[in-house]
Amino acid sequence: MDSKGFIELENQYGAHNYHPLPVVLKRGEGIYVWDVEEVKYFDFLSAYSAVNQGHCHPKIIKSLVDQASVLTLTSRAFHNNILGDYERFITKIFGYDKVLPMNTGVEGGETANKLARKWGYLKKGIPHNQARIVFAKGNFWGRTLAAISSSDDPSSYEGFGPFMPGYDLIAYNDLKALEHELKDPNVAAFMVEPIQGEAGVVVPDDGYLAGVRDLCTKYNVLFIADEVQTGIARTGKMLATDFEDARPDILILGKAISGGVYPVSAVLADDEVMLCIKPGEHGSTFGGNPLACMVVKAALEVVIEEGLAENAEVIGNLFRDELRSRLDDCKIINLVRGKGLLNAIVINDTEDSTTAWDMCISLKNKGLLAKPTHGNIIRFAPPLVIKRDEMLEALDIIEEVIREYDNK
Ligand SMILES: Cc1ncc(COP(=O)(O)O)c(C=O)c1O
Repeated sequence: MDSKGFIELENQYGAHNYHPLPVVLKRGEGIYVWDVEEVKYFDFLSAYSAVNQGHCHPKIIKSLVDQASVLTLTSRAFHNNILGDYERFITKIFGYDKVLPMNTGVEGGETANKLARKWGYLKKGIPHNQARIVFAKGNFWGRTLAAISSSDDPSSYEGFGPFMPGYDLIAYNDLKALEHELKDPNVAAFMVEPIQGEAGVVVPDDGYLAGVRDLCTKYNVLFIADEVQTGIARTGKMLATDFEDARPDILILGKAISGGVYPVSAVLADDEVMLCIKPGEHGSTFGGNPLACMVVKAALEVVIEEGLAENAEVIGNLFRDELRSRLDDCKIINLVRGKGLLNAIVINDTEDSTTAWDMCISLKNKGLLAKPTHGNIIRFAPPLVIKRDEMLEALDIIEEVIREYDNK
């Protein structure tokens, strides 16, 4: 069957809740993917930053296969011989007392919200059912009812009400607005992405995250960092909050924690917060299963052993410097922004235009896959194993396509 056939099959039998680029992939290795017609592409999306270690990394795949043939799932009704070691491993890497293992990013967010509410009642003394959690406008943390209840994007929430009470929105990158909210003693937590990925790679001012940390400490509010997209070396350090003195009280990880091999998320916190949840109050059948634990161990070892944070920083700087200087005279690009290898271009067109989509089609036709985050923004987030010469080759494609549109 050719690409057209596979696309028709999905259209007929699958829900229409996505609008993929018309390419049908069948194989991946490192920074490259191949479609069913054997055309090779640079992957500049990395499954929304889940494949930081590159497609089918041999070490991660080996850990998956080895563990899969021994024991995959016990549920948490019983102990297993892998979980404790994994919990020690991940808490030591990120510097927290405890971890609560889940599966997807949005479950990590839900877990963090539940922990914050419980802490609010048990430790902060918030009156029963009065806890509030504050979010930043433009946030994205998934598609559950709780996640869309904190969204200000109509395509996320429209038609899905009624919504979760106790959620409020303030402007991103605005410490004054945050301080105003945090003065309310019923606020349990502020949940924020260190860089807003889905909003279009919106990078806050230097000092914002440290400012959030200070204000949360001052008003006894939990700082929840959603590092599902920014974490695991994507922005040039293991965590995007590592750039400042901004250690979160609750850290949410997902996506690349497993190298895109298996859905795993993790919520990390110290005992003061984590022990607020007691047996029977939260969990998941698959959370913390032996297969997931072994995959994450291998995936995080790869990040450290291969120096992926350092590479993301160096190649990310190259990407932005090159693109800015090459496109200096291009009127169609307003801005190149990002950190490490989480970057975006903002196109000089309206949010509801199709320019970003059209450009992504042109990029695909020249061998590079990327996806718009809005009508006028394209995110570029290749696997962190990308090398300098590969990035320069990819930049030639990006420049060529942008010039085509600039001359239209
Ligand atoms: C910052 C952030 N948080 C949470 C999520 C949700 O993760 P998942 O799709 O694994 O539920 C995403 C997904 O894109 C994300 O970007």
